[in-house]
Amino acid sequence: MFDLTGKTALITGAGQGVGLGIARKLIEAGATVFVNDLVPERAASAADQLGPNATPLPFNVADFDEVEAAIASAGQIDILVNNAGIPPSMRAIKFRDLPREEWAPYIDVNLNGVLNCVKAVIDGMCDRKWGRIITISSGAGTEGLNIGVSIYGAGKGAGISFMRHLAVENARDGVTANTLALGLMAREGVEETEEHRTVTAHMAKTVPVGRLGTGADVGFACVYLASEEAAWITGQTISLNGGSVTN
Ligand SMILES: NC(=O)c1ccc[n+]([C@@H]2O[C@H](COP(=O)([O-])OP(=O)(O)OC[C@H]3O[C@@H](n4cnc5c(N)ncnc54)[C@H](O)[C@@H]3O)[C@@H](O)[C@H]2O)c1
Repeated sequence: MFDLTGKTALITGAGQGVGLGIARKLIEAGATVFVNDLVPERAASAADQLGPNATPLPFNVADFDEVEAAIASAGQIDILVNNAGIPPSMRAIKFRDLPREEWAPYIDVNLNGVLNCVKAVIDGMCDRKWGRIITISSGAGTEGLNIGVSIYGAGKGAGISFMRHLAVENARDGVTANTLALGLMAREGVEETEEHRTVTAHMAKTVPVGRLGTGADVGFACVYLASEEAAWITGQTISLNGGSVTN
C-alpha cells in the first residue's frame, strides 16, 4: 500500500525543514526525488543526507525561466510538492506597518512559484494520464490571524484557490491536486533564537495533541496523497495541525 516505486518527485524548498521531511518520507515509500531550494548548498547538502535516490535541483520557484529550464533538465516529474513558501525576508508585522516594497516576495513564492512549477509539469502529467500535485499551505491561508502574517496568508490562500481549480480542470486526465494547510511546525535542523524557542514552546501547549508538527507528519500525508490509492481525492484542503481549530 502507498508504494511510490518508479515515481519521480520534485519537492520545492526542500533544503531544510518541512520539505526535507517530505523528501525523506517519499524516498522511504520508494520514490526518487529532486530536492529543490533557492540556496544551492542547501539543496546539495539535503540531497547528500537523503542518499542515492535524491538529486539536488536548485532554482528560484518565483523565476519562470529558471523553473522551466531546471524542470526540463530533470525530465519526467510524476509528483510535484509545492513546499517553498517562506521568503527569506519574512517577518511578522501587521499590514499597516509593512512597507509596500516588502509585499512582493510573499506572493511571488506562494502564488507565482506554484503557478510556475505547475506550468512546467502539468502537460507531461496530463499526457501520461497520471500526476500528483500537492501544495503546502498554512492555517494563515484559511483563517484570519492576528500575528502579523496578512500578505503571507493572502499568498497561501491564493495557492489553495488555484489548486481547487487545477483539480477540476485536470481530473479526467488522472492528475490530482490537493493542499495541506499546516499548523505551527517545529523548526527542525534550523538554529533558533532563545526568544523564538520560548514563543514556540508556549504555542506548542495550545496544540490539542500537545506538540508542534514535524516534517515527518507532513511527509506521511504527502505519501498518501501521492499514492495510487489517493486517486479519488482531489481539490481538497486538508488541515494538518494537531487538532487546532484555528492555527
Ligand atoms: N514553519 C511553520 O511553522 C509553517 C507553518 C505553516 C505552513 N508552513 C509552510 O511549510 C512550508 C515549509 O516551511 P518551512 O518552515 O520548512 O520553511 P523553511 O524556511 O525552514 O525552509 C524552506 C526552504 O525553502 C527555500 N525557499 C524559499 N524561497 C524559495 C524560492 N523562491 N525558491 C526555492 N526555494 C525557496 C528556503 O531557502 C528554505 O531552505 C512553507 O510553504 C511554509 O509556508 C510552515
